[in-house]
Amino acid sequence: MAYFNPFRPSYMADPYSSLARLRSDEPVHYSETVNAWIITSYQYGLEVLQDYETFSSNPSRASSKVSESLAYVRQNSALGNVERLAQLDSFSHTRLRRIVARGFAPSILEKLRNDIRIEVSMLIDDLLGAHSGGVVEVVQSLAVKVPETILSLQLGLHVDDRDQVMSDTFALMQTNFNDVTVAKRRAAREAKVRLTEFLESVSHDERVASDSVLSSIARAEEISSDNTEEDLPSTEELLALVVDLAQAGSATTAEAITNGILAFAISDTAQSALRENSELLDSAVDEILRFDPPQQVLVRWVTSDLLFSGVQMKENDVVMVLVGGTNRDPDVFENPDIFDVERYRSNSGSDAPPSLAFGRGSHYCVGAPLARIALQEVFRSLLEKTSSFRLSDQMEPGSLPRTEDWFARGPKALEISVTL
Ligand code: HEM
Repeated sequence: MAYFNPFRPSYMADPYSSLARLRSDEPVHYSETVNAWIITSYQYGLEVLQDYETFSSNPSRASSKVSESLAYVRQNSALGNVERLAQLDSFSHTRLRRIVARGFAPSILEKLRNDIRIEVSMLIDDLLGAHSGGVVEVVQSLAVKVPETILSLQLGLHVDDRDQVMSDTFALMQTNFNDVTVAKRRAAREAKVRLTEFLESVSHDERVASDSVLSSIARAEEISSDNTEEDLPSTEELLALVVDLAQAGSATTAEAITNGILAFAISDTAQSALRENSELLDSAVDEILRFDPPQQVLVRWVTSDLLFSGVQMKENDVVMVLVGGTNRDPDVFENPDIFDVERYRSNSGSDAPPSLAFGRGSHYCVGAPLARIALQEVFRSLLEKTSSFRLSDQMEPGSLPRTEDWFARGPKALEISVTL
């Protein structure tokens, strides 16, 4: 019987060997440790993510322990008891998703690329300017700064509004977790008032770019004009969309940057290949996300008893798609444990399918095109401004400081030694 324990330090250091064993022994495995079905094969992962009628994203089906914790979070959230985009299915999901999806159209994002390039380049200048003896720490000095920058550009914020809107959004986000304090709740209530006023002002003046996602959220009423009165999103729902974008796009993007820097820092071959041929940049970014995905676990709930891949699942069972497993499935990816920046090169002949780093199906990451642009610009700039970088002598790839959260992946700190 395959054994799975994601709480062990050795799993945090390297989940991939354990996931490979599981995928080969039992690609759909019931884990008593986490009380859930663990899916590690690409094909089964796809089937789960593409069938929201059988595998729901709505946690109201969760066991009493999980539902109690969610109910607690909702009660304490300054946003009130609103439904969240990522936790809805079917029409209620589409109703909210289409409000934000407009602001992520590739044509709109490509127009932002130049601004993203300029701001990312400045962040990297700061990073490299602050090095001591050639060593820089990239998590706090770069990775966590990029998401806020790209989000404020993508929301369409005027530079004068940026700091206040972003700090209010993050203050509201703080009440979405289990550790809400009185101070956090008070700060979130004040932030909610300011952000509501801001959204109202946006809907009738030119404070944000007209094709931005914030403009789309503020004018949701016009977008939903074909709907009935009760279908119109409430102010809380609109605020929740802003917060959800920030929440879904922050740690993930920062971790993808750190995981990518780590992958290049320990692979001279990959770094040289990309330095010699910058046309590999897009492929390299998709490979970073396949090789070491930031969001490792996608959770669903079974809507009715069913036989799936030969195992009997019951209504309300929890199913977890382990992206670290699916993305290294040897039935789908050749030499899956090799970090190969040419894997997604359009004429490489490998025909590697998209990994599940951004999910699949109706909840496919709405921010994926923005995240890709951000990563492309980070690595373009980093490689242009340095002649090489490697892991600092103080760090061991197998024992980097990591969070205890097995749902996410990215070192808490990462030092690289840079040659300019
Ligand atoms: C490298 C960075 C990113 C990664 C790896 C990532 C990953 C993912 C994944 C795996 C999902 C699907 C979750 C599921 O099916 O349960 C998702 C959904 C989502 N992501 Fe991202 N994401 C990233 C960046 C972003 C950014 C920059 C934004 C916004 C600015 C964003 C906004 C969202 C939203 C709103 C959803 C929920 C979509 C829905 O439920 O319809 N993400 N993301």
